[in-house]
Amino acid sequence: MPNLSISLAERSYDVIVEQGSLSLSGQLIQKRSLTGKIAIISDSNTAPLYSQQLISSLESAGYSSSLHIFEAGEKSKNLSSVEDIANQMVENGHDRSSFVIALGGGVVGDMAGFIASIYYRGIPFVQIPTTIVSQVDSSVGGKTAVDLAAGKNLIGIFHQPQLVIIDPDCLQSLPAALIREGMAEMVKHAALRDPSMLRRLSAMGVAINEDAGFQISYLPELPQLLADNIAIKAYFVEKDERETLGLRAFLNLGHTIGHGIEASVPFGSIMHGAAVALGLRAALYLSRKHSDMSAADEAAIIDCLRSIQLPLQLPDFVNPELALARCASDKKFKAGAIRFVLLRALGQPELVGSLTKEDLRDAISDLTEPCA
Ligand SMILES: NC(=O)c1ccc[n+]([C@@H]2O[C@H](COP(=O)([O-])OP(=O)(O)OC[C@H]3O[C@@H](n4cnc5c(N)ncnc54)[C@H](O)[C@@H]3O)[C@@H](O)[C@H]2O)c1
Ligand SMILES: [Zn+2]
Repeated sequence: MPNLSISLAERSYDVIVEQGSLSLSGQLIQKRSLTGKIAIISDSNTAPLYSQQLISSLESAGYSSSLHIFEAGEKSKNLSSVEDIANQMVENGHDRSSFVIALGGGVVGDMAGFIASIYYRGIPFVQIPTTIVSQVDSSVGGKTAVDLAAGKNLIGIFHQPQLVIIDPDCLQSLPAALIREGMAEMVKHAALRDPSMLRRLSAMGVAINEDAGFQISYLPELPQLLADNIAIKAYFVEKDERETLGLRAFLNLGHTIGHGIEASVPFGSIMHGAAVALGLRAALYLSRKHSDMSAADEAAIIDCLRSIQLPLQLPDFVNPELALARCASDKKFKAGAIRFVLLRALGQPELVGSLTKEDLRDAISDLTEPCA
């Protein structure tokens, strides 16, 4: 079983990546000496698919639990849902001796983690992520948050989980678009630290079936690939848990311009992963121009994004000037320059502080042309 440990002193925890692990959750949690009543927090899509399996396993291990379901989607990730769920938890008799299990994608994990961080001034929580984004990215690292009308993730806190249980079988029910979404983050991780992984990701990209998503039984290498990819996220989290040293900031590769594109159109009209793929292409353009990245390294990442069928050209409905304005608000510029993650080569990121608004405008304008 590919198993990882996240080393963060007294906040260290294991990440278990194993097919069938959802049905073993009760035992796996018991081994970590977690006691008390459990509040399972999940959403309206994930709970019908996986909560029964989880509850049966918890019951077999002697745990009692209550299930708290909110309506799926980013629009639920707010303080009003936090209050609703916390009230339900009180009604169900949860106190400081309880703990939380987050069962679902990144929205569930971010919000359930946030609730756990403040309920009775903080109780433990376990992540059981069920999307690729949440398995390789949001469930590891301890960033919890909810959104405000003014922006995403503006209210939050670092609260590390006690355990992360990843069952690749849960990806069987994920639609093709959400698989691509998560694979954009996997490409980002590979580009930052493991160039040889790009080929493995391309092979996986080709295996996405438009109607059936992933045929897990034909992908025996998937658990190891997920584990290797999570290890990259873990590396940056361990080096810079609270993003104070600049190393965790490398994980923003492709996200400065990606976020700008996302924020320039009505929410939901472009998927985050698609915006990240475009942001990656823009970061590669800038890395060629302002760092030493070779054309071959750039092509390796572009080819991988292409195999996953992520977009590489700005859709017509995105206005380049608006995208620039959204990613480069004047607040982010210090003395006319912005902090930006570039790649000197595959696996060699660098944080540069000298790019100007004109540089970003060039890169976004390049995105309006077909990719070579
Ligand atoms: N904390 C972090 O470090 C971090 C990192 C990256 C993203 N995030 C956050 O994560 C969120 C995005 O995560 P996401 O992409 O998982 O979104 P999500 O949680 O909204 O899940 C996407 C959709 O898939 C459904 N779903 C979940 N598991 C499924 C399954 N196995 N089969 C079928 N459908 C399933 C969900 O109900 C939802 O409709 C954002 O809120 C983002 O801010 C946080
Ligand atoms: Zn992202």
